[in-house]
Amino acid sequence: WLVCRQSRSISSSSRCMSIMPAWVIDRYGSNDVLRYTKNASFPVINYPNEVIVKVFAAGLNPIDVSMRGGYGANTLSMKRDPLNIKLSGSEFPLILGRDVSGVIMECGPDVKYFKEGDEVWAAIPPWKQGSLAEFVVLSGNEISLKPKSLSHVEAAAIPYVATTSWSALVNTGGLNKDNCASKRILILGGSGGVGTFATQMLKAWGAHVTVTCSHNAERFVGELGVDHVVDYTAGPAEEALSALEKFDLVLDNVGGDTERWALGLLKPWSGAKYVTLVTPFLQNTDRLGIADGMMQTAATVATKTIKHLVKGVHYRWGFFAPSGPALDEITDMVDAGQIRAVVEEVFSFSQVSQAFEKVEKGHARGKTVIEISKGGD
Ligand SMILES: NC(=O)c1ccc[n+]([C@@H]2O[C@H](COP(=O)([O-])OP(=O)(O)OC[C@H]3O[C@@H](n4cnc5c(N)ncnc54)[C@H](OP(=O)(O)O)[C@@H]3O)[C@@H](O)[C@H]2O)c1
Repeated sequence: WLVCRQSRSISSSSRCMSIMPAWVIDRYGSNDVLRYTKNASFPVINYPNEVIVKVFAAGLNPIDVSMRGGYGANTLSMKRDPLNIKLSGSEFPLILGRDVSGVIMECGPDVKYFKEGDEVWAAIPPWKQGSLAEFVVLSGNEISLKPKSLSHVEAAAIPYVATTSWSALVNTGGLNKDNCASKRILILGGSGGVGTFATQMLKAWGAHVTVTCSHNAERFVGELGVDHVVDYTAGPAEEALSALEKFDLVLDNVGGDTERWALGLLKPWSGAKYVTLVTPFLQNTDRLGIADGMMQTAATVATKTIKHLVKGVHYRWGFFAPSGPALDEITDMVDAGQIRAVVEEVFSFSQVSQAFEKVEKGHARGKTVIEISKGGD
């Protein structure tokens, strides 16, 4: 192992390249901040458990559009530079893209479970450089062997929504494949990226799944195995939902007004949980700074938790959490035919800007994926 480019960088050197093609942003803003360059810094292995992945396909999520506009900038900067040594704006040029499917090009010396040439997939933490590039560096804990039954383009549609669903439903909601059979689950926003993945996972585990979505998504979610659909465009969803038997868990992908009524749909005093993915955590730190934002966040979540606990239901916030081990389980479910990739549109690497426009419009019926390198499948 040789030292390459930076004093703390480990890299196996004969292929020590210094630049690569990527889409970057140099400031936060609307779509015109996206810039294609052939001269982005080639990623280097800084820690012995890291790998360099050659990206074959990258998936886009609403968070990429939000991050392009500066969402979460304060917290993510702190995560990248905890001692606050660097100048403000040191995150630029920033590479977006949270989903990756590709092939390992190089492994750090402590990587045990993977080797060069392995086909892998991963959800990339938002504080790391993303997948809209020819190569990306990830920790061995964040990657997993890609399902054999999926192409790279199909695989890139899954990791971010899958690890978010896993974190919210399994880690926060306490669900697993052995305790879902008798459970009634409600997913608010069932036709989006997280909703379509969560639906498939819960159906594979035998749960009864009700979702809300707009009228034109009813057929789409029906094909994923949903048991009951409520069209939120046909009238107040809370009225139609309150006529149904109560639920064991609500996963909220919509937020806002839903908190006013959704907890009333849970079975009280039975351990039932409301898990929302729409939290003010990053907005608070963007608006108030890290210290005050964290204080505000802690006060909000504590107040809400107590308010609902006395009514016999649990109030929780869910967050994306990168996890290779969770993806290992999802790989098995995909290869067993229990979960499928839902790709709505595939763009080429030269069309990243159009892909962002599409995600920004919303109401997708499947993921937007960018094919970065051909010949991977
Ligand atoms: N906390 C975290 O770490 C984390 C991680 C991932 C995602 N999230 C958040 O989770 C949410 C969902 O993410 P996503 O990737 O699934 O987004 P998405 O793909 O844009 O899906 C959102 C879905 O919500 C539906 N919707 C909009 N208004 C609705 C309403 N009033 N009632 C019911 N459904 C409604 C839309 O359905 P129709 O098209 O049918 O109208 C759309 O399909 C986003 O707010 C995202 O920011 C948070």
